[in-house]
Amino acid sequence: MRILAVSGSLRGGSYNTSLLRAALEAAPEGVELELWEGLAELPLFDEDLETEDLPESVRRLRADWATADAILFATPEYNGSVPAGLKNAVDWASRPRFEGVLRNKPVAVVGASTGQFGALWAQQDLKRILGIAGARVVGTEIPVSRAHERFDNEGRLLDGEVFEQLRLHLTTLASEAVAAPDRVAA
Ligand SMILES: Cc1cc2nc3c(=O)[nH]c(=O)nc-3n(C[C@H](O)[C@H](O)[C@H](O)COP(=O)(O)O)c2cc1C
Repeated sequence: MRILAVSGSLRGGSYNTSLLRAALEAAPEGVELELWEGLAELPLFDEDLETEDLPESVRRLRADWATADAILFATPEYNGSVPAGLKNAVDWASRPRFEGVLRNKPVAVVGASTGQFGALWAQQDLKRILGIAGARVVGTEIPVSRAHERFDNEGRLLDGEVFEQLRLHLTTLASEAVAAPDRVAA
């Protein structure tokens, strides 16, 4: 079982990327989590670019997301919602309409912010957006609030409760992917 881990933050010291690194360790047996990086290379979504000569970064996004059994997203919250780069990636992945790589894909969402609500609005919005794009959204949100207090200087998660929540989240996501795989096994 291969689950991709996609962080909505591009910054080097990102708490959301650190949260995904903690998820790598929290993954249950048989689940391999792999950090996916590629958001920054994507052009802004533009229907005029949807030709046979698709940008390489978009091809890579679609190939990588298509072959994953499931995807775990970690989103920061920017002005009460999902960062533009992450929304852009979902828009690219949602196309062609009704045939995009997110169609029927099991996905789950977590999020960290330095505020007191732990990117809850961004997570709710991301779940809604992913659902509209055709993904099978699994589980509830995991709002990691006051993120600057929950990681050490090396980005290691200090909160055992959040670690257990991540493990549970991944277990639920993996079960969903096993119960109803989105693609025919090769
Ligand atoms: C443009 C911008 C808007 C932000 N808006 C919010 C917000 O609406 N809610 C919130 O809790 N934090 C907000 N923050 C603070 C982020 O939670 C904080 O920068 C966090 O560390 C970003 O995630 P990252 O560490 O993964 O990059 C904002 C930060 C930026 C840069």
